[in-house]
Amino acid sequence: MQKYEVDQEQRDTPNSLEYVDALEHALDKNEVTLFFTESPTNPFLRCVDIELVSKLCHSKGTLVCVDGTFATPLNQKALALGADIVLHSATKYIAGHNDVLGGCISGSEKLISAVRTLHNIFGWCS
Ligand SMILES: Cc1ncc(COP(=O)(O)O)c(C=O)c1O
Repeated sequence: MQKYEVDQEQRDTPNSLEYVDALEHALDKNEVTLFFTESPTNPFLRCVDIELVSKLCHSKGTLVCVDGTFATPLNQKALALGADIVLHSATKYIAGHNDVLGGCISGSEKLISAVRTLHNIFGWCS
């Protein structure tokens, strides 16, 4: 991430008081552009309170991105809970047979257009 001049801080144990305190502290201390989390997490299947973290992050102007791969879009509606961007690795439960590589990203047209532009610039498949 340093290559892209991105500072990052990692935390485990979502939803513990310590985790929420650390998030509030990080949001207060830094100009945080994006909060990224898996929910449920791999490999421990810990679930994040997406509504809570979205409220905290949005109060500081921070975007929220949730990787919902392990829940599938059927079982978790992160956008409805307040997230700005949702990712799914379609390689896993969506495809289901371990024979497909893919992924999907959802969010507002504005955000997804920006992601698409970066895809084009960096040359990833889009
Ligand atoms: C939660 C989660 N998201 C994304 C990925 C990456 O998926 P892919 O193999 O499709 O790149 C993984 C891989 O283990 C994962 O556990």
